[in-house]
Amino acid sequence: MSLKKKILLLFVAVFLAIQFIIPAHNKSGQVLPTDFAKVFTAPANVQSTLQNACYDCHSNNTNYPWYSNIQPMAWVMARHISKGKAKLNFSGFGSNTTRKQISKLKEILNQIKDSEMPIPSYKLMHKSARLSQDEKTLLINWLQATADSLSVSN
Ligand code: HEC
Repeated sequence: MSLKKKILLLFVAVFLAIQFIIPAHNKSGQVLPTDFAKVFTAPANVQSTLQNACYDCHSNNTNYPWYSNIQPMAWVMARHISKGKAKLNFSGFGSNTTRKQISKLKEILNQIKDSEMPIPSYKLMHKSARLSQDEKTLLINWLQATADSLSVSN
């Protein structure tokens, strides 16, 4: 067997072997009372945009695309989810103090305004998560108004 063939075979073997190392899925299957959707009565289009563009990495329920069944894709996703949730978890938003909620709302606003989130590799695979200027403006205005009203009442 030529060296080229041996190397190719090794790659195939490694690829097949890693298919068995499957990270746990981030899917609680329930919407907590502390979920952003329950804490705030955001207009339907605001909530659905957040759910569509952010919840996969920032909640307890990820919608897994078909390619998440292929390694190492699921590893990359699991890493994004654990890092993302550590910074912001929409499922547990209501368990933050009001002060913390205000600062989180502003953080979310800034990430959207600066087009930092969703992360580029995610946008590549999820067309609907590429926010239009109109969608961004809608989110930014609502986030600002909500942060302001929380600040006034506290
Ligand atoms: C594909 C996964 C993914 C998606 C989708 C995603 N994020 Fe993130 N997000 C991350 C990761 C990973 C981090 C942590 C980055 C780090 O530690 O540097 C993060 C961090 C953040 C932070 C904290 C920023 C900081 O510097 O501390 C905010 C706020 C945030 N994301 C908001 C959002 C919003 C709003 C959306 C939707 C518009 C969104 N994210 C979509 C993965 C994602």
